[in-house]
Amino acid sequence: MAQIGTDIEHAISLLESDELVGIPTETVYGLAGNALSESAILKIYTAKNRPKFDPLIAHTYSIEAVDQLVKEIPSNALKLAEKFWPGPLTLLLEKSEKIPDLLTSGLPRVAFRIPNHLLTLQLLEKLNFPLAAPSANPFGYVSPVEANHVNEQLGDKINYILDGGRCQVGLESTIIGFEGEDPVIHRLGGIAVEEIEEVIGKVKIETNKSSNPTAPGMLKSHYSPGRQLIIGEIEKNVQKHLDKNIGIISFKDDYSQLVKSNFILSASGNLEEAASNLFKALRQMDDPEIDLVLTEQVPDEGLGLAINDRLRRAAV
Ligand code: TXA
Ligand code: MG
Repeated sequence: MAQIGTDIEHAISLLESDELVGIPTETVYGLAGNALSESAILKIYTAKNRPKFDPLIAHTYSIEAVDQLVKEIPSNALKLAEKFWPGPLTLLLEKSEKIPDLLTSGLPRVAFRIPNHLLTLQLLEKLNFPLAAPSANPFGYVSPVEANHVNEQLGDKINYILDGGRCQVGLESTIIGFEGEDPVIHRLGGIAVEEIEEVIGKVKIETNKSSNPTAPGMLKSHYSPGRQLIIGEIEKNVQKHLDKNIGIISFKDDYSQLVKSNFILSASGNLEEAASNLFKALRQMDDPEIDLVLTEQVPDEGLGLAINDRLRRAAV
């Protein structure tokens, strides 16, 4: 098992020797290594059991630091960076030669993000390289939102996890690229589409190109709780599967009379609260006592779009 603590200096010394460290962000925990070191990047792919065609996000602490590692920041990208960084937004930008091809899986663009978490921002500011950090889960599994989730699944592969408490947003960052100046959302995430459109106008959403993916990690099957999961018609499905041990993840309604395990995402129907609880709920359903998970879509607005996206991928 890895050690869990808040010792930034210890994290720095590990990262400077190309070792990996679990780091907190406002979205999900990341599995971090030096983004400019091929040896550290390789360790990330191996620890996650992640295919090398699925590129990693680089994290840093300032727009200036990003600017030094990319060819240019288009003006719409800059507007979004100024508005939402630090925060759950990832921008795809033309990479400079300083960025290893291994980080981007040979793609011409690199993904950058400034996370909104004090401990990790302090860490990034003290390092003289950006951190590559995919979500700290084995490939295909639910992303971790607490330090002990990282330890449960990757604790035998890393030495240290920085503990930043529970992730506030709870969904991964929204990923945006540009065709010229035209914005394209490649992954729905912690910043709602409506908020982005307020800054740069209408955006295109392209989150399902799994045949020739620009964001290859958006494969259809992902976020799996390791159990069969059905979306919609909860009550009807309970009746249909009376022979099974059922777990229910509901948006705001209480089904605890019907089944042993019911996780309510937000009793008041708040989408931010539901988002921050979603991955914990999926993880809780990964339980030998449960053979079927029933869930339902939330309203398709605000963070609801990203929640529904994750549910659909968990159901495949
Ligand atoms: O919120 C987040 O973004 C978290 C935290 C740790 O920052 N990170 C995260 O990383 O979710 P990961 O590796 O689990 O997901 C990154 C996604 C993948 O779908 C990957 O394919 C896509 O970003 N991506 C990364 N670099 C890319 C690139 N150069 N072009 C296209 N897609 C890219
Ligand atoms: Mg991930």
